[in-house]
Amino acid sequence: MIRASLSSSGLVPLLLAASLLPPACAAQASAQLASDKGCANCHNNLTPKKKAPTFKQLAADYAPLRNRPQTLRERAEKLRSGSIFGHIDAHERLSAEEAAQLVHWLADGAP
Ligand code: HEC
Repeated sequence: MIRASLSSSGLVPLLLAASLLPPACAAQASAQLASDKGCANCHNNLTPKKKAPTFKQLAADYAPLRNRPQTLRERAEKLRSGSIFGHIDAHERLSAEEAAQLVHWLADGAP
Protein backbone atom coordinates (compact mmCIF):
# COMPACT_ATOMS: atom_id res chain seq x y z
CA MET A 1 0.00 0.00 0.00
CA ILE A 2 2.58 2.53 1.09
CA ARG A 3 4.94 1.51 -1.64
CA ALA A 4 2.23 1.80 -4.26
CA SER A 5 1.24 5.27 -3.17
CA LEU A 6 4.83 6.43 -3.04
CA SER A 7 5.58 5.49 -6.60
CA SER A 8 2.30 6.73 -7.96
CA SER A 9 2.82 10.07 -6.24
CA GLY A 10 6.02 10.64 -8.14
CA LEU A 11 8.00 10.80 -4.95
CA VAL A 12 10.34 8.01 -5.94
CA PRO A 13 11.60 9.67 -9.13
CA LEU A 14 11.97 12.86 -7.14
CA LEU A 15 14.13 11.15 -4.53
CA LEU A 16 16.15 9.50 -7.27
CA ALA A 17 16.75 12.84 -8.94
CA ALA A 18 17.84 14.34 -5.64
CA SER A 19 20.32 11.56 -5.09
CA LEU A 20 21.90 12.34 -8.45
CA LEU A 21 22.82 15.87 -7.41
CA PRO A 22 26.53 16.49 -7.35
CA PRO A 23 28.02 16.04 -3.91
CA ALA A 24 27.52 19.71 -4.20
CA CYS A 25 26.19 20.47 -1.10
CA ALA A 26 29.22 19.83 1.00
CA ALA A 27 29.02 23.50 1.88
CA GLN A 28 32.59 23.85 3.04
CA ALA A 29 34.12 22.51 -0.16
CA SER A 30 31.86 24.77 -2.18
CA ALA A 31 32.78 27.87 -0.22
CA GLN A 32 36.41 27.00 -0.91
CA LEU A 33 35.63 26.58 -4.60
CA ALA A 34 33.87 29.96 -4.69
CA SER A 35 36.95 31.50 -3.23
CA ASP A 36 39.39 29.60 -5.48
CA LYS A 37 37.43 30.54 -8.58
CA GLY A 38 37.35 34.22 -7.70
CA CYS A 39 33.59 34.40 -7.17
CA ALA A 40 34.13 36.05 -3.82
CA ASN A 41 36.03 38.92 -5.42
CA CYS A 42 32.83 40.24 -6.92
CA HIS A 43 30.03 38.60 -4.94
CA ASN A 44 31.22 38.83 -1.34
CA ASN A 45 28.68 40.22 1.10
CA LEU A 46 30.72 43.16 2.36
CA THR A 47 32.14 44.92 -0.67
CA PRO A 48 30.64 43.48 -3.83
CA LYS A 49 31.86 44.84 -7.15
CA LYS A 50 29.46 47.45 -8.46
CA LYS A 51 26.94 45.46 -10.44
CA ALA A 52 27.46 42.07 -8.85
CA PRO A 53 24.77 40.77 -6.51
CA THR A 54 26.13 39.64 -3.13
CA PHE A 55 26.24 35.94 -2.23
CA LYS A 56 23.35 36.71 0.10
CA GLN A 57 21.25 38.14 -2.72
CA LEU A 58 22.14 35.25 -5.00
CA ALA A 59 21.28 32.77 -2.26
CA ALA A 60 17.91 34.44 -1.78
CA ASP A 61 17.25 34.30 -5.54
CA TYR A 62 18.25 30.67 -5.83
CA ALA A 63 16.70 29.31 -2.62
CA PRO A 64 13.30 28.70 -4.24
CA LEU A 65 15.06 26.48 -6.82
CA ARG A 66 16.63 24.22 -4.22
CA ASN A 67 14.43 21.26 -5.08
CA ARG A 68 14.43 21.84 -8.80
CA PRO A 69 17.64 20.24 -10.02
CA GLN A 70 16.71 20.69 -13.67
CA THR A 71 16.25 24.44 -13.29
CA LEU A 72 19.47 24.71 -11.31
CA ARG A 73 21.28 22.85 -14.05
CA GLU A 74 19.92 25.29 -16.62
CA ARG A 75 21.01 28.25 -14.50
CA ALA A 76 24.47 26.76 -14.15
CA GLU A 77 24.75 26.35 -17.91
CA LYS A 78 23.48 29.88 -18.51
CA LEU A 79 26.10 31.21 -16.13
CA ARG A 80 28.84 29.26 -17.89
CA SER A 81 27.75 30.36 -21.34
CA GLY A 82 28.29 33.95 -20.26
CA SER A 83 25.98 35.23 -22.95
CA ILE A 84 23.47 36.96 -20.75
CA PHE A 85 25.84 38.29 -18.12
CA GLY A 86 28.25 40.31 -20.19
CA HIS A 87 31.06 37.77 -20.49
CA ILE A 88 32.55 37.48 -17.06
CA ASP A 89 35.65 35.30 -17.29
CA ALA A 90 35.15 33.72 -13.88
CA HIS A 91 31.70 32.52 -14.99
CA GLU A 92 32.86 31.20 -18.35
CA ARG A 93 35.88 29.36 -17.00
CA LEU A 94 33.74 27.08 -14.82
CA SER A 95 33.39 23.43 -15.79
CA ALA A 96 29.85 22.08 -15.91
CA GLU A 97 30.48 20.28 -12.61
CA GLU A 98 31.86 23.35 -10.89
CA ALA A 99 29.02 25.55 -12.09
CA ALA A 100 26.45 22.99 -10.93
CA GLN A 101 28.15 22.68 -7.56
CA LEU A 102 28.26 26.43 -7.00
CA VAL A 103 24.68 26.97 -8.06
CA HIS A 104 23.53 24.25 -5.65
CA TRP A 105 25.63 25.85 -2.96
CA LEU A 106 23.87 29.17 -3.54
CA ALA A 107 20.46 27.50 -3.47
CA ASP A 108 21.44 25.94 -0.14
CA GLY A 109 22.14 29.36 1.37
CA ALA A 110 25.81 29.89 0.46
CA PRO A 111 28.08 31.36 3.13
C1 HEC B 1 34.35 40.18 -12.20
C2 HEC B 1 33.28 40.07 -11.24
C3 HEC B 1 32.60 38.70 -11.08
C4 HEC B 1 33.18 37.50 -10.75
C5 HEC B 1 34.65 37.20 -10.51
C6 HEC B 1 32.09 36.55 -10.65
N1 HEC B 1 30.89 37.15 -10.92
FE1 HEC B 1 29.06 36.29 -10.88
N2 HEC B 1 28.22 38.02 -11.53
C7 HEC B 1 28.89 39.22 -11.71
C8 HEC B 1 27.95 40.24 -12.13
C9 HEC B 1 28.29 41.70 -12.43
C10 HEC B 1 26.70 39.59 -12.21
C11 HEC B 1 25.37 40.22 -12.60
C12 HEC B 1 25.27 40.23 -14.09
C13 HEC B 1 23.96 40.83 -14.52
O1 HEC B 1 22.99 40.73 -13.76
O2 HEC B 1 23.95 41.35 -15.61
C14 HEC B 1 26.90 38.22 -11.81
C15 HEC B 1 25.89 37.28 -11.73
C16 HEC B 1 26.04 36.04 -11.17
C17 HEC B 1 24.97 35.12 -10.93
C18 HEC B 1 23.50 35.40 -11.19
C19 HEC B 1 23.02 34.65 -12.37
C20 HEC B 1 21.53 34.72 -12.42
O3 HEC B 1 20.90 33.67 -12.53
O4 HEC B 1 20.98 35.83 -12.31
C21 HEC B 1 25.51 34.01 -10.38
C22 HEC B 1 24.80 32.74 -9.94
C23 HEC B 1 26.92 34.22 -10.29
N3 HEC B 1 27.23 35.47 -10.78
C24 HEC B 1 27.81 33.31 -9.79
C25 HEC B 1 29.19 33.47 -9.82
C26 HEC B 1 30.12 32.44 -9.44
C27 HEC B 1 29.72 31.05 -8.97
C28 HEC B 1 31.36 32.96 -9.61
C29 HEC B 1 32.70 32.28 -9.41
C30 HEC B 1 32.96 31.23 -10.36
C31 HEC B 1 31.20 34.34 -10.07
N4 HEC B 1 29.87 34.60 -10.18
C32 HEC B 1 32.25 35.20 -10.32
C33 HEC B 1 30.24 39.44 -11.50
C34 HEC B 1 31.17 38.48 -11.19
